[in-house]
Amino acid sequence: VVAVVGATGLVGQVLLSGLEQRGFPVGRLVPMAGPGSAGKKLTFAGQEYEIQAASPEGFHGVDLVFFAATGELSKRLAPAAVAAGAFVIDKSASWRMAPEVPLIVPEVNGAALRASDRLVASPNCTTTGLVMALEPLRRAAGLKRVHVTTLQAASGAGRFALEELGTQAAALGAGETPVAELWPEPLAGNVLPRCDELEPGGSSREERKLCQETRKILNLPNLELAATCTRVPVAVGHCASVWIETERDLDPAEARDLLQAFPGVEVAEDPTPASVAGRDEVQVGRIRRPLAGPGLQFWQVSDNLRKGAATNAIQIAEYRVRLDLSCN
Ligand SMILES: NC(=O)c1ccc[n+]([C@@H]2O[C@H](COP(=O)([O-])OP(=O)(O)OC[C@H]3O[C@@H](n4cnc5c(N)ncnc54)[C@H](OP(=O)(O)O)[C@@H]3O)[C@@H](O)[C@H]2O)c1
Repeated sequence: VVAVVGATGLVGQVLLSGLEQRGFPVGRLVPMAGPGSAGKKLTFAGQEYEIQAASPEGFHGVDLVFFAATGELSKRLAPAAVAAGAFVIDKSASWRMAPEVPLIVPEVNGAALRASDRLVASPNCTTTGLVMALEPLRRAAGLKRVHVTTLQAASGAGRFALEELGTQAAALGAGETPVAELWPEPLAGNVLPRCDELEPGGSSREERKLCQETRKILNLPNLELAATCTRVPVAVGHCASVWIETERDLDPAEARDLLQAFPGVEVAEDPTPASVAGRDEVQVGRIRRPLAGPGLQFWQVSDNLRKGAATNAIQIAEYRVRLDLSCN
């Protein structure tokens, strides 16, 4: 019995289609969302289900819960789901940095998941793609420093953000002035130099999440990491321009081979959001030496709704099922 909290949202919808596509064993689905969606119907695996308003009582008899709603809701309801006996995978930022909660990208640190864990966090959509590209290089050569600039799609901020980009693009196309509601300035025809609020010191919350989560997943608490997270007028697909310095020198040809051999990573000529949208693979290209100075540069792209969110959460569930089977 599988519950999806946030079943009507961007991630929830991709999660439901991913469960179907991957043939995840769902005996009964319990779709949950906000009070405004309660009573509406959705179809999953050829069967119609009624959406429930998310509540602690709704977790009774549920084996697995995906939280893909708001951070506040995960904070409030995930403990209730665990108390009801469910295994919980949370997509929000609420539990990622809790020391007792594993933060998992199965290809990278699946081994950190224990059979006794009841609550597991899935990382930020930008972190997932980045660690997938860093891990094969770390395993071979060690990591000293990472500098990253992200170019993040509108859908990373949810369906209202995606709708706002569409409305603004239509206004621009009609020769009108686009109106900004979610962001301080219109996103259409623009690039915003930060994804969300700034914190004391001038970095944004998104940049802090990327830095802290990367360190936790790679188990490198002292990794030096400088990040700039930007928002670009693209519907789906986050990009990252990355510079790294490794412990042992790594040339581009070796890096290419390591990346290509890593499960879930594809080396591509010039990957773009359009080349990853709707796909689970993380694509890496432009692998090269800097023109001056040490290290290695590359360009990494992934679908923020799939590997950045829904697919990673399903892979955690699949990994957990395999763990249970191997313990029995
Ligand atoms: N978008 C991404 O690329 C991405 C990537 C990684 C992680 N995440 C995380 O995944 C989660 C979902 O993101 P999203 O982009 O799918 O957001 P979204 O498109 O805005 O969808 C939000 C979902 O949450 C539900 N919801 C809102 N308030 C609720 C409440 N009080 N009770 C129950 N359900 C409520 C909504 O239901 P209604 O339809 O009823 O309002 C909807 O199903 C967030 O925590 C986000 O940080 C997103």
